[in-house]
Amino acid sequence: MIANFIQSNRIFARIVCTALMAVCTLPYANAADDGASVKPVFSDSEIKAILSHGPWPVPAPPDPTNRVSGKPAAIEFGTLLFFDQRLSGSGTKSCSSCHVPERNWTDNQRRSTGVIELDRNTPTLMNLAAGSWYGWDGAADSLWSQSLRPIVDARELAATPRHVAQVVRNDNEMSCRYRHAFGSPPSPTNDEVVLVDIAKALAAFQETLTSGRTPFDHFRDALARGASPSTTSYSEPAQRGLKIFIGKGGCTHCHAGPNFTGGEFFNTGLSRYQPLGKPDPGRPAAIRLLLESRFNLLGPYNDEVSGASAARTRKASLEQGNVGEFKVPSLRNLFLTSPYGRDGSIDTLAQVVQHYANLDPIRLHAKDGRPVKPLNLSAREQSDLVVFLESLSTFSNPWRPEEGARCD
Ligand code: HEC
Ligand code: HEC
Repeated sequence: MIANFIQSNRIFARIVCTALMAVCTLPYANAADDGASVKPVFSDSEIKAILSHGPWPVPAPPDPTNRVSGKPAAIEFGTLLFFDQRLSGSGTKSCSSCHVPERNWTDNQRRSTGVIELDRNTPTLMNLAAGSWYGWDGAADSLWSQSLRPIVDARELAATPRHVAQVVRNDNEMSCRYRHAFGSPPSPTNDEVVLVDIAKALAAFQETLTSGRTPFDHFRDALARGASPSTTSYSEPAQRGLKIFIGKGGCTHCHAGPNFTGGEFFNTGLSRYQPLGKPDPGRPAAIRLLLESRFNLLGPYNDEVSGASAARTRKASLEQGNVGEFKVPSLRNLFLTSPYGRDGSIDTLAQVVQHYANLDPIRLHAKDGRPVKPLNLSAREQSDLVVFLESLSTFSNPWRPEEGARCD
């Protein structure tokens, strides 16, 4: 009824305007252009773009650079290590102090606090198995080297390799689990070897963390089966937001594939926090850190005999990276992980979308230095985009630790 009334008034207004040949702004025209009452229709190429964001979940093969990847005994060991405060120098912190399961493996703080406040927001640990680069700037080339860093970082767990190795050697339960996972007891003399293995068990555990299926995934699979969008229970605002996401929003250029990230590095200007009064350099500093690290894939701890996986590290060594570039994050389960951006400076998804509404993300992607023009998303388009982003989330993280049997 109301829709008909508005519709007929709009037509009436148009007729009057045309008749008067006047330049008049139509009070309803904006709403019509926003697509407020328009049922979304998807072209064949749009359907193809939507299908490229699934199916979900994606099974990830074991990591060839980690000889215990996918091994149940290592996963169990890694689970215990993740929650064990004895790994920290002070005995009071664990990985789970910042990566909290109920908070989708984040801490919901702007910037995380270990021994002191860090420069960056704590990212989720969901869906990391298929990644190539870890950390907001990609300073680690494997999940295990990324897991090693916080153990010895003076701002995080602040432990030494000696401390960690001694905890594992001297505790019966720990050394038993180490033996089961790695096939031999922890080295009595080489602390670094034990430390790297601890990181590999932690990585084996984290690889198992996958987020659940969402309203978007059900919609995507219905389209894959040939269903018409209007027969699904996926809401119209979400469908309109999706159309912008894959269309004029240009979001898929960077947030590509089933995990909504192509894993590359870009400067979006989203986060502006300046640690120590200087901009966070991002990728160029990360490439330097990566190449200096003994624990990168070119080093002695890569378990892959052929070394093929080190190709990406070798390639990175030839690149400089641009200041202000950061890794494109996944957009799954954002509902549980506010605040947003690598400095946590943005409280809501609406504010993230507002940032993009004033730029042209397709130009951002081109990296050719030409000026970025505004995308000019209307208020309605922005709210549709937010509804779509929310549809990429489950509303809780059901993960709970299992009571493991004692090791013998
Ligand atoms: C003091 C809080 C804190 C603690 C403790 C902590 N982390 Fe983190 N974690 C962070 C922050 C902050 C980042 C982002 C780092 C960056 O971009 O440089 C991060 C990043 C990561 C990443 C990369 C995720 C991605 O998307 O690339 C992994 C994996 C990770 N941490 C695992 C661990 C493990 C395993 C432990 C325990 C050994 C741990 N963290 C302990 C705060 C913490
Ligand atoms: C040019 C590549 C690129 C394009 C295009 C792009 N993004 Fe992003 N996006 C990024 C990067 C890089 C970050 C992390 C930026 C930071 O924190 O400094 C990010 C962060 C985000 C975040 C915050 C996620 C979190 O965990 O903090 C959201 C939400 C987001 N983008 C949504 C979108 C939407 C919606 C669009 C389309 C309008 C879009 N992006 C287009 C690269 C891109």
